[in-house]
Amino acid sequence: HGTSRINDAGHLEIGGCDVTELKAEYGTPLYIMDEQLIRRRCREYMDAFAASGLGFQVAYASKAFSVMAMCRLADEEGLSLDVVSDGELYTALQAGFPPERIHFHGNNKTPFEIEMALDAGIGCFVVDNFVELDLLQAIAASKRVNVNILLRVTPGVEAHAHHAYAATGQTDSKFGFDIGNGTAFEAVQQSSAKENLTLLGVHSHIGSQIFETEGFEMAVERVADFARRVKEELNTEFSVVNLGGGFGIRYTEGDTPLHVSEYVAAITGAVKKFFAGIGAKLPEIWVEPGRSIVGDAGTTLYTVGTNKTIPGVRKYVAVDGGMGDNPRPALYESKYEALLANRANDPAVETVSIAGKCCESGDMLIWDVELPETKSGDLLAVACTGAYNYSMASNYNRIARPAVVFVQNGQSDLVVKRESHSDLIANDIVPERIAKQPV
Ligand code: LLP
Repeated sequence: HGTSRINDAGHLEIGGCDVTELKAEYGTPLYIMDEQLIRRRCREYMDAFAASGLGFQVAYASKAFSVMAMCRLADEEGLSLDVVSDGELYTALQAGFPPERIHFHGNNKTPFEIEMALDAGIGCFVVDNFVELDLLQAIAASKRVNVNILLRVTPGVEAHAHHAYAATGQTDSKFGFDIGNGTAFEAVQQSSAKENLTLLGVHSHIGSQIFETEGFEMAVERVADFARRVKEELNTEFSVVNLGGGFGIRYTEGDTPLHVSEYVAAITGAVKKFFAGIGAKLPEIWVEPGRSIVGDAGTTLYTVGTNKTIPGVRKYVAVDGGMGDNPRPALYESKYEALLANRANDPAVETVSIAGKCCESGDMLIWDVELPETKSGDLLAVACTGAYNYSMASNYNRIARPAVVFVQNGQSDLVVKRESHSDLIANDIVPERIAKQPV
């Protein structure tokens, strides 16, 4: 992927940085992000939309990888930002991300989060349900501010996501107002009556890691039908249609994602086709890619430690990280590819399974991968870990979370420090009552 190559020493090099040197400088496990590849993905979206002639915003879904340096980079590339919590919002604001290009998502925004976002003056709330609609109106009124909203709708499209947990467009979903049963229509009516809310349009997100365009096209068709009904019966026009994220990437050979420009062309084409007959101005199109911006730019570097061979069954090779830094295999049975990064030209001679170091059997990163013979101290690089790895990492077994570096043009920059032992206990308190007990 991207700027990765094998150098003359037979080492993996990313962004011009030899991973053996990165290990010496930062230790392992280490998340390595190829900055040029992230920027290339941002530009692919921006260029493809610009070519469509439609108005647009590309909002990076920061849940995929939310750190201040990434927010800065997204801003530099002209993207907007999707946040779903006070923590993601705080990260963006601290990074100086322009609040007017921040969109706030979530099915249970707290009064605190709503206040924080209103005080910051963010560009848009994606309202999920009737309780939130009332709450947002009440808080906005008390602050005497107006706020732009989109209504999140479920178009009734079942996307072929990689896992049921990642599919969200179907009727039986915790998210959004249903188009099919009249609740979305009711939400438009209620929004129009709320003085401090300005309804821009609707939002639909059908799932994640999607390889086909049909789901998006179907969602556009359903949303356009809905827009027609709203225009005819309520005399309200949508100026924005947000189609969410979900564009797939290639984790392993079996994955067959489309090029970014193909997803965008399908969506903008469907908008032109299905909205043309409504007799309204074509809406601005917003999307919210997360995985496809950062996913394939990330590589996790591990050091190989122990191994165990069960004759006739399997060989386990253990690395110094695991489900703490990448919970996706345990959670979704996600598949990854790996490379022996310090002897990348050596031929594969055995099939091994990569185990993490956490205290449970489910802590496996890869089942059955072909590798050269591994020794303690070798470096293993797992590819495509840029999305939903650092952002879903935990301190299970009180293992410190790894550092994150951006690499480009032979230079590496630390963007998240490795957690220290003192970080791990920073919030712990031993009540005096317990501390004082005689031993
Ligand atoms: N917009 C909304 C409303 C979303 O819910 C999501 C993802 C996105 C955009 C970005 O989707 P993307 O382009 O990244 O597919 N943790 C799971 C993925 C959960 C996705 C949640 N929502 C995983 O590791 O596969």
